[in-house]
Amino acid sequence: LKPTKKALIVYCSPAGTTRHVAQTMKDKIQELGAATVICDLGNRGDEAGIISEIQDAKDRTLLLIGSPVYALHAVPPVMNFISKLPEGTGVFAVPFVTWGGVSSGIALYEMGKALAAKGMKVVGAAKVLAVHSMMWQIDHPLGHGHPDQEDDKKIRGLISQTLDKLSGEKIKTIPFSELVCYPEHVRSEMEKITLEARKEHMPERKVDQNLCTQCQECSDTCPTDAITFSPFPEFGNNCIFCFNCVRTCPEKAIKSDLSEIENRIRTMAKEFAERPFTEIYS
Ligand SMILES: Cc1cc2nc3c(=O)[nH]c(=O)nc-3n(C[C@H](O)[C@H](O)[C@H](O)COP(=O)(O)O)c2cc1C
Repeated sequence: LKPTKKALIVYCSPAGTTRHVAQTMKDKIQELGAATVICDLGNRGDEAGIISEIQDAKDRTLLLIGSPVYALHAVPPVMNFISKLPEGTGVFAVPFVTWGGVSSGIALYEMGKALAAKGMKVVGAAKVLAVHSMMWQIDHPLGHGHPDQEDDKKIRGLISQTLDKLSGEKIKTIPFSELVCYPEHVRSEMEKITLEARKEHMPERKVDQNLCTQCQECSDTCPTDAITFSPFPEFGNNCIFCFNCVRTCPEKAIKSDLSEIENRIRTMAKEFAERPFTEIYS
């Protein structure tokens, strides 16, 4: 037997909760004696380094890959990363998502499907409830206080079970069709909704030129490098509407009225009523 010696952890996390899950996984893996390499896709992580690790994977290498749910999907940086992975390496994979209590949509399902298409064996997965990242300005955001200690415990449990599984003889994989909690007709409707189309309905961001000092903090924190200066910040097409620029601007010069979208988000959460909030597949 060649137990897992190395786990590669890749994620995108504009608002930090997916990073928290990734970190919790990393700590548990190290506690169990395996090495980890971690890559933050939105923050100048070493993507190429991870891809070559996967290319040269030996023993039972594990790839854990995490995304927030945006408009029912995994975010573009994560899906783009998966599309660049080499095929047929036989690496084992665990996709995970954080979601803001509206709907986890088909994010896990499509990540699982894309990983399987690369010949990876999905051996676990997780969806984790998290505070809704469009609601940081309000008192009682959806997902308030999550991921909490119970969520963290479930994440550590997933890691123990997965490494256990990978040290066994017969390794059971999880079909990606199981990674979605909606019936097929809902799933196919969800496939038609895209973040690209939703962008039209996203709150506008306006730059107050009297306040902006062109400090570039917004572009530093932008996970898709979508901000250019001429001389004030402008938002390019690859913006994913994470609102990191609004959230982190030290002068509060980038403004966006998110109150108008709040009711819509809450209504959708009631309609979907998705349960359980945090779920581990193993
Ligand atoms: C543009 C945008 C779209 C979102 N769409 C959804 C969604 O469809 N369903 C949901 O439950 N949460 C949604 N959320 C909330 C995030 O999925 C959630 O807060 C996630 O944990 C953020 O991860 P991060 O902290 O790693 O950035 C959305 C957030 C943003 C900014």
